[in-house]
Amino acid sequence: MKDILTADFMTEMIRTTGNMYRQGWDERNSGNISLLLDETEVKDYVNLKAVLRSLPTGFKTPELDGKYFLVTGTGKYFKNVEYAPEVNLGLVRLTDGGGTAELLWGLTDGGGLTSEFPAHMMSHDVRLRIDPMHRVVMHCHPANLLAMTFVHSLDEREFTRTLWQMCTECIMIFPDGVNVLPWMLCGTNAIGEATAEKMKTARLVVWALHGIYGAGRDLDETFGLIETAEKGAEIYLKIAHLPRLNHITDDMLHQIERRYGVKAREGYLAQAR
Ligand code: 13P
Ligand code: ZN
Repeated sequence: MKDILTADFMTEMIRTTGNMYRQGWDERNSGNISLLLDETEVKDYVNLKAVLRSLPTGFKTPELDGKYFLVTGTGKYFKNVEYAPEVNLGLVRLTDGGGTAELLWGLTDGGGLTSEFPAHMMSHDVRLRIDPMHRVVMHCHPANLLAMTFVHSLDEREFTRTLWQMCTECIMIFPDGVNVLPWMLCGTNAIGEATAEKMKTARLVVWALHGIYGAGRDLDETFGLIETAEKGAEIYLKIAHLPRLNHITDDMLHQIERRYGVKAREGYLAQAR
């Protein structure tokens, strides 16, 4: 067996959790990540027949049966992942129609998977049907997006339009916009189902008064997606109370659509003239 700590997916996960912590998105144990891996990627690093523990998930996602995920543990601090990946992360395989997660590596202190495992797996299920290249679900608590949910309308079109209007390139990074869930109790199957439903139409889902979920093809891209939305929210909070003299108009956003071949979510921009 090769040393799993040298695997590309592990190095990338360690870098990503450290970067997210340093962005201020993941205080204490906040945030969680799950990365879908192919069996071919993991087979040289773990004994696929040696199940260390069987963890009941409390939900079913039959389409994900037999799939492998590198996941952050519940109560674990992102800032500590780089120092003790084997304690703070777990590599699991889903069985029993998603009802059981078989631990193959990690969580060496006896810890469990992130409490948001339902939202992660249900979101993977939805996003994989839309994009076979999908791999990552990422949750965190970026301060500006979170703050924005206290003072901005939670209407998805309005929320999205405000972010698009804050940085010229926002619309290029998330043309499908940002969906928004009202406050719900976290760590439940119910918020998992609601998040996955929202993931059908956008790769970003804000949890009002809590944080955000992002989905993407790799860790870097998903990080960048959240980073861009968070930048938009930061600009909004810097200018919201000031007289606004200049604007990013719908006409400008249509120009970006044409020049860069992106298509804004249907009905979110005024008709092009
Ligand atoms: P976990 O520590 O269980 O991953 O929970 C953190 C979090 O952000 C809950 O929403
Ligand atoms: Zn959270």
